Amino acid sequence: MLAILHFFPDADDPHALVGRLLQALPAGSYLTVTHATADFDDGMERLAATYRASGIPAQTRSRAEILRLFSGLELLDPGLCTVHRWRPDANTPTDLTDAQVSFYGAVART
Ligand SMILES: C[S@@+](CC[C@H](N)C(=O)[O-])C[C@H]1O[C@@H](n2cnc3c(N)ncnc32)[C@H](O)[C@@H]1O
Repeated sequence: MLAILHFFPDADDPHALVGRLLQALPAGSYLTVTHATADFDDGMERLAATYRASGIPAQTRSRAEILRLFSGLELLDPGLCTVHRWRPDANTPTDLTDAQVSFYGAVART
């Protein structure tokens, strides 16, 4: 679910949507979510508002709100963090800030 769930406002119950998806997967599958956040920069919230003004539902979420999408699942290390901090490798730029990235991501085992 890469860069998808922020297009589902709370009224669409994204947590339930994730649950339906997981029910269709064999045990031991992995769920990956990346999600826009305004935790570090309110520019991301302004971007979401621009989407909404154009008729596209969009909702930023806080770290705690995104974490709830994984309830009942076991997060792989390092857990939910901005995506450039999730197991960075030699190709990951070292000068990025959380505000510049403004996306959380995590991988969980079902
Ligand atoms: C930023 S793109 C990400 C695409 C892909 N997952 C990736 O990471 O390259 C956002 C995706 O969300 C999908 N999307 C947005 N609203 C949706 C909805 N209501 N139902 C299903 N898909 C939706 C769009 O079709 C688009 O493919």
